[in-house]
Amino acid sequence: MATIGILGGTGPAGRGVALRLASAGYDVVLGSRDADRAGDVARGLTPRGTGVISGSTNDAAAACELVVVATPWDSAVATVSALRSQLADKTVISMVNALTKEGRELVPMYPPRGSMAAQIAYALPASNIVGAFHHLPAAQMQDLDSGLDADVVIFSDHDQAREHVAGIVDEMPGLRAIIAGSMSLASPIEAFTAVCISVNIRHKAHSYVKLAGMDR
Ligand SMILES: NC(=O)c1ccc[n+]([C@@H]2O[C@H](COP(=O)([O-])OP(=O)(O)OC[C@H]3O[C@@H](n4cnc5c(N)ncnc54)[C@H](OP(=O)(O)O)[C@@H]3O)[C@@H](O)[C@H]2O)c1
Repeated sequence: MATIGILGGTGPAGRGVALRLASAGYDVVLGSRDADRAGDVARGLTPRGTGVISGSTNDAAAACELVVVATPWDSAVATVSALRSQLADKTVISMVNALTKEGRELVPMYPPRGSMAAQIAYALPASNIVGAFHHLPAAQMQDLDSGLDADVVIFSDHDQAREHVAGIVDEMPGLRAIIAGSMSLASPIEAFTAVCISVNIRHKAHSYVKLAGMDR
């Protein structure tokens, strides 16, 4: 099985994805600007499966066969640009949302190319960018007993990379892969995260995305 690296993997989003990847049997490298910190975070995660989670630098995470970007939006492009050569010819998954808080709401921001996935694709012309994991609530992702039963909406201009990521997502406990389409859908998919979080704030809820009417 492929080893999967997560850039910025020490945050709640990266930890949740790592836990469920490892529970599906994948070895995961949590990348960080501080390898010691990543090691501490990795030791605190207990997957249920054969996958091993280790902590290291973002450089080491970028050396993995498949790489997830899980940094805040405003550091994502700088982080991946510094790793451009390591990420060439690989599938790079963006779960990055550009959001800002206004009062009790999260509102989407629109980067110059319309989405963070498109910004990352522009920064990494030799990589295959796939968007996934945008709508997942980190707290429930990190609790394998949370009963999470969520859909992961996936987009990419690279059919093979998209199918590969969908196959991995379907192996992760509590998740179902839904391929939405191409990179042109990145903007609404990322922006919809603002709706998910705002609904949860307003209703003091822990809802997540599950598309009805899907026959699979
Ligand atoms: N939280 C969620 O529920 C959730 C769900 C879906 C998608 N997302 C998206 O996933 C991404 C990460 O979310 P998060 O809540 O985990 O974010 P976060 O905790 O703010 O950041 C994640 C990690 O990024 C690294 N980082 C922070 N500032 C950085 C900088 N200036 N340069 C490079 N690395 C930096 C940090 O790791 P080190 O200090 O160890 O380097 C941090 O632990 C965001 O883009 C978010 O929109 C989040």
